Amino acid sequence: MASSSSSAPDSGSLVAGHYNDRPNVDVHQREESKILRLKNFNNWTKSVLIAHYCKRDYSVLDMGCGKGGDIQKWGLAKIKEYVGADIADVSIKQAQERYRDRPPGYPATFLALDCYSVRFPIPAQFITHPQNIFHPMSPYISLHSSFRQNSLAPLLPPNQTFDLVSMQFCLHYSFETEAKARQMLTNVTSNMVSGGWFIGTIPEANWIVKRLRGVPREGDPALPEAERTEPLKFGNSIYSIRFEQPEPFGKFGCKYWFHLEDAVDCPEYLVHFPTFQSLASEYGLELRLKTGFHEFYKTMACESEFALLLKRMKVYDRGESMSEEEWEAAGECYAVFIGRSFLRTRVSGVKDSARAFGVKDEFA
Ligand SMILES: C[S@@+](CC[C@H](N)C(=O)[O-])C[C@H]1O[C@@H](n2cnc3c(N)ncnc32)[C@H](O)[C@@H]1O
Repeated sequence: MASSSSSAPDSGSLVAGHYNDRPNVDVHQREESKILRLKNFNNWTKSVLIAHYCKRDYSVLDMGCGKGGDIQKWGLAKIKEYVGADIADVSIKQAQERYRDRPPGYPATFLALDCYSVRFPIPAQFITHPQNIFHPMSPYISLHSSFRQNSLAPLLPPNQTFDLVSMQFCLHYSFETEAKARQMLTNVTSNMVSGGWFIGTIPEANWIVKRLRGVPREGDPALPEAERTEPLKFGNSIYSIRFEQPEPFGKFGCKYWFHLEDAVDCPEYLVHFPTFQSLASEYGLELRLKTGFHEFYKTMACESEFALLLKRMKVYDRGESMSEEEWEAAGECYAVFIGRSFLRTRVSGVKDSARAFGVKDEFA
């Protein structure tokens, strides 16, 4: 893996800086976004995942929780308690404010920390007095560290467990290196109950690579000059993806720049799904499902409650839906995954339709 020069900011700082700088828009500004329906669709997908897999009284860890966009969704699921962690400390503060402004009915803890970095010695105060920073009955607590605190488990009380860990639109940043992916999985699993759920959304690497292979080569004499595209770049008026290196790609560090109008502009990494699956199994997780948003939508929108939600969340509104360009940027570019920690004891009560989708190989 190529290492960055000492003067260049590390990718974690770049990502944190990008998300910290994103303005916290109010409802009215949000309504004006060019990609409002795409955002609503992404929120619908997350709502369906949460409604389907999260049961009443679950303890939830939301890793990469950002500005707390899912706080109300967890409230609707009637969870027992919540821990949200994110590398972007400004986002964490905004999540706390959101929580405080509209209390969702469960106690929450918010932590500003890099959940993917390689473990290094943990400051003694967090090991000897973890109770100082975790008070389940207090509404919100922030740990904002000037050092980089990397391991989640020591920050939680020894008996803290999670029934469900959610990673929405954020896991792929950990595929920069194997060490980061492993640290991410350590944090996902270290406090997870047997039979706990692991749900999330990631870029659909298989589709991205196929799309890249379809980009006309630079200087293709068969094309008129105006149509000769930048090599290694594709997209539409809403999003673009630009790779720095051509294939072959390795399992980690497959970097591309993702630009989504009005939302994202930073380096991301392909998640090679078979690698993710085999790594996860080392941490006691079985990844059961990976399916593109389109397919997930087609399956889940058949259930009447989720079909109604499409309207309520204004994915369809006054006869209008997403544009084709928005569909490409959301429906094709992203996938849902579902995992479960190996069952040591049988649990029941969750309807599991994951197997119906099957798991596909990446870069096939
Ligand atoms: C696209 S946002 C998604 C936020 C939220 N999950 C949602 O769906 O609204 C991606 C988030 O991943 C966070 N992130 C990226 N790298 C991280 C890391 N190393 N540790 C914790 N959070 C990280 C970013 O700061 C950002 O808030």
